[in-house]
Amino acid sequence: MTAATTDEKPWYMRGNYAPVEDEITATDLAVTGEIPRGLSGLYVRNTPNPRDEGSSHWFFGDGMVHGVRFDDGRASWYRNRWVKTKKLEQELDAMDPAVMMDRYASAANTHIFPHAGKILALEEGHFPYELSGELETKGCLDYGGKLQTAFTAHPKLCPETNELHLFGYGQLPPFLTYHVLDAKGELVHSAEIEVPGPTMMHDFMITRDHAIFMDLPVTFDLQKALAGDIPIGWDESYGSRIGVLPRFGTNEDIQWFEVENCYVFHPLNAFVQDGKVVCDVGRHAYMWRDSMEDFAPSYMHRWTFDLATGGVKEEPLDDLSHGFPRVDERVVGLRHRYGWVVGERAGAEGGMSAPSVITRYDLETGTTATHDFGPTSQAGEFVFVPRTEGAAEDDGWAMGYVYDQARDASDLVILDGAQPEAEPVAVVHLPRRVPHGFHGSWVPDPA
Ligand SMILES: [Fe+2]
Repeated sequence: MTAATTDEKPWYMRGNYAPVEDEITATDLAVTGEIPRGLSGLYVRNTPNPRDEGSSHWFFGDGMVHGVRFDDGRASWYRNRWVKTKKLEQELDAMDPAVMMDRYASAANTHIFPHAGKILALEEGHFPYELSGELETKGCLDYGGKLQTAFTAHPKLCPETNELHLFGYGQLPPFLTYHVLDAKGELVHSAEIEVPGPTMMHDFMITRDHAIFMDLPVTFDLQKALAGDIPIGWDESYGSRIGVLPRFGTNEDIQWFEVENCYVFHPLNAFVQDGKVVCDVGRHAYMWRDSMEDFAPSYMHRWTFDLATGGVKEEPLDDLSHGFPRVDERVVGLRHRYGWVVGERAGAEGGMSAPSVITRYDLETGTTATHDFGPTSQAGEFVFVPRTEGAAEDDGWAMGYVYDQARDASDLVILDGAQPEAEPVAVVHLPRRVPHGFHGSWVPDPA
């Protein structure tokens, strides 16, 4: 379906949501400031980038990764590459129920995550695709045929064991399955978790001891899918509950807690404190109620679950409308002090194309620090890169892509983790704009 004029195109095909048309490789990137000496590795982010205009929603566009390679303080290259999936190569329609059910037919457009020497391009309805360090597609992973469900786009890497905890949800039973990959990347645990129906579970959490599932009222309707309509939406009557499962547990071991109705795309992190499980999450009061354009903003919110009494405490932490919360990967599942989010710029207008800022929460002092890129700039998700493995939680850099509407250009901006509000440490100027997208990772070089 090709729109006749630009104005008729949906929002996700316009402005900086519009896809780029080709793959490029650029070297000798221009830099303002100074890239820290010793910084070596790959920053890479995933983005829906439909190769044709047939995508029926932003969420279904073919995955394209955009990466910048650093070698000891030098930005060696920028590359953008489509993930060469079965869906892309065979030009399959993501809305076709047969494609939804074909686990190899991923759009691979949501996250990119390193584990056990592999770089995984992820989308929550299908299997992972493995990419090389130069962002070429190596193939689809089904873990020797052992993986029988989808693989979430938001697995959690335990920083102490290097196990990858994850889940898969399905439109048909089993609706939810918990999995663990060991430090070598072998699938070593799978357990079906009972939930009342086909809930769209986008993300989850771990603590040092638990896996935590968010069973929330955005559900699938296969009849709508068969009729060619968007098959996901708000279902008030489904209810909202959070399941706390001991790591490597099974359905018999889970403890469920009812919470006030809401939706959470992205938690910040979870940890255990005084025998209670504390979860900091980006909470939407509702999601996709009347249409996919009808949703409440996300605010930082804390749930505290008392495992001994079954008690639940809910408290708003902040009134900043935000997206893309991230902690330092070294504190995933452990008590965090800092959290990084993309925040709404004060007074900003423009909806999905409004300018945005990067805010760092300090949850110990209850303060925030904000980097404002100016009135025409929109920041994507920022990830934290520690200076060294043992550095303090703010000793390093936060980096991500920032699009400047005035120049129609994108930069990779590197902020000082301890002083995010200060001038960027370095700005790597990219040879092309990077469309707005989803999630990324820092891929450190092998030790
Ligand atoms: Fe996500």
